[in-house]
Amino acid sequence: MTELERLVDFHKHGERQGPGSAAQTLKALNLLGVADTRGLNVADIGCGTGAQTMVLAENADCRITAVDLFPEFLERLRDRAMLKARGEGITTLEASMDSLPFDDETFDLIWSEGAVYIMGFEEGIRDWKRYLKPGGYLVVSEISWITPSRPKELEDYWMNAYPQMDSISRKISLLEKHGYSPVAHFILPEYCWTENYYNPILSRIPGYLAEQENSAEVRAFAESEREEIDLYNRYKEYYSYVFYLARKTS
Ligand SMILES: C[S@@+](CC[C@H](N)C(=O)[O-])C[C@H]1O[C@@H](n2cnc3c(N)ncnc32)[C@H](O)[C@@H]1O
Repeated sequence: MTELERLVDFHKHGERQGPGSAAQTLKALNLLGVADTRGLNVADIGCGTGAQTMVLAENADCRITAVDLFPEFLERLRDRAMLKARGEGITTLEASMDSLPFDDETFDLIWSEGAVYIMGFEEGIRDWKRYLKPGGYLVVSEISWITPSRPKELEDYWMNAYPQMDSISRKISLLEKHGYSPVAHFILPEYCWTENYYNPILSRIPGYLAEQENSAEVRAFAESEREEIDLYNRYKEYYSYVFYLARKTS
């Protein structure tokens, strides 16, 4: 298995593939003020196994195109959707976020939780804008600095892992630069990382190691997951995912 295949194989068993919660997805949806809008056309980009897709489907009058690169995640999403009352409004699409097959001005709302970093925040918000109808909304969660300064060890780690890691004010400036009006932003609370994402990972690791016969490759994978969690536990006051809500204005 390649490193990427290993990631997918492990994370396909998770409820979600990044920090977040149903309550925070709902908070973002409510802040948009679209509760009374009928028939919203929504794209959920980098949907994973669909944690946020389900919340959107259940709480907005919408049809959703849920996009991910990996069919294993989309298959789990379809299983989940089948069990939900509004699940029939969800269509899955296997595609890469940097070459989407959509026509211009297709969507009222583009949603992307914990995924735009894959093509880079600036490239994502810039390239996806054309798929939004005039006045359409963009909602993305993006890892960001939440304090004005931070320890060098942490800064070095993130500059290496994700050079676009930046402050909230700079992310908002980028939205404005690329023709969006900021609507709101808020920081994901700690439980979204710990209870909802890292703790389930830690509890799945022993079973996964046993299932994969404790191979050196899987041990290395488990170690890198634990390292990321350790970094978060040591430095969580300096960074988090931040939800950015914006409206296409030009
Ligand atoms: C951190 S996960 C977030 C998943 C989900 N939104 C959540 O919060 O649980 C990032 C997602 O992006 C997907 N992904 C990775 N590369 C992609 C690409 N080039 N195009 C579309 N999706 C991609 C991954 O498969 C994964 O589901």
